[in-house]
Amino acid sequence: MINLLIMGKPGAGKGTQAARLLDYYKLTHISTGDIYREEMAKDSPIGILAKKYIGQGELVPDNVTNDIVRNVLNQKDYPNGFMLDGYPRTKTQAIALDKMLEDLNIHLTAVINVDVEDKVLLVRMAGRRVCSNCGATYHIDFHPSAKEGICDVCGSKLIQREDDLEESVLNRLRIYNEKTKPLLDYYKKKGLLLIVNGEDPTATVFQNIVNKLGE
Ligand code: AP5
Repeated sequence: MINLLIMGKPGAGKGTQAARLLDYYKLTHISTGDIYREEMAKDSPIGILAKKYIGQGELVPDNVTNDIVRNVLNQKDYPNGFMLDGYPRTKTQAIALDKMLEDLNIHLTAVINVDVEDKVLLVRMAGRRVCSNCGATYHIDFHPSAKEGICDVCGSKLIQREDDLEESVLNRLRIYNEKTKPLLDYYKKKGLLLIVNGEDPTATVFQNIVNKLGE
């Protein structure tokens, strides 16, 4: 069983790499961002609450996110292991995750940090387009869909995420530096941290992650 955690600044390529790694290692994806986007699309009570924070680039409160992840992990629906993506993002979440894993007697295999400079992220998020139906991710220059504005996977319309507008992106970066970046040290001290250069082409980043996991 391989249990991974993928970290990085907003737009670093966590979702892009997670999609490849899930396929390669046959892991179950647990993305708190995807869970919130699904809840928002359904207009569920959690979605309505999350929308207030996400559109402005703020974090959803820790207790809400911890409850969601605890619930998913407790279902034990990850026969080959899991890939946590976008969680934890605060020290409180990291401590809560430690307790969840301890209760389930599960260990993290590694924490992957996809490292990218801020100026690169701004270009990536300005050009990101996502499928309004299946969530597949594209970039107008680096990873365009075959037909402009249409998803290659399911044929639905591509849209720009509300939190990819510049003001929200800058706020997300500020919050990342303040609340999430300190977790790199937290996992380094536990001997779990692997760092890859996220500015390389997507396939190279993926290969470097696989190589490092194999070491
Ligand atoms: P979430 O969805 O987790 O957003 P994020 O961390 O900001 O990450 P992104 O999805 O923006 O980017 P990514 O790193 O996955 O990059 P991608 O692969 O798409 O969370 C959204 C919101 O939900 C949060 O802001 C928060 O409000 C809330 N939330 C979620 N989790 C929470 C938690 N734990 N606690 C509280 N609140 C929470 O790539 C970006 C673009 O770059 C794409 O266009 C892609 O095609 C392109 N690209 C990727 N890799 C490369 C490459 N190597 N070269 C060139 N282009 C590339």
